[in-house]
Amino acid sequence: MSMEADVESLIEAARAARGNAYAPYSRFAVGAAVRLAGGEIIVGANFENASFGLSLCAETVAVAAVNAQGRLADIEAIAVAGGDASPVTPCGRCRQILNEAEQVAGRPIAIYCAAADGGSFAHHSVTELLPFSFGPNDLGLVPPSKS
Ligand code: THU
Repeated sequence: MSMEADVESLIEAARAARGNAYAPYSRFAVGAAVRLAGGEIIVGANFENASFGLSLCAETVAVAAVNAQGRLADIEAIAVAGGDASPVTPCGRCRQILNEAEQVAGRPIAIYCAAADGGSFAHHSVTELLPFSFGPNDLGLVPPSKS
């Protein structure tokens, strides 16, 4: 598969996952799709709570699902889809979570941000979205390996 087709199918997976969002409070549905080394795709959708602050973002749900499979080190890319007009970008907490995954992976994770229903997408890096991040190095630790 070409690089472009790869990205398009990842974004399509994020858009499809958006359909499973549980967002009765904000009515803002977001889907995320992580591509692992080898091509497997793991998805997530936002999962809100009546205690609003407990709500989980789509990206966090997807990365946690990857972790549950023991595959954190294999994350290559994540697509996020949501928002009517302009592409949604990961919130601050999700950026920190993606930074942790990137430390474990030991190589950059590509972030593709798309709107809900088509249109162009933006390509970002973790360091671009979260400069001066807090990570294992700040605790005097080398990035932990997942194996
Ligand atoms: N949300 C995500 O799932 N990902 C983002 O990148 C931005 C925001 C969710 C959280 C909440 O359920 C809803 O969108 C409105 O903030």
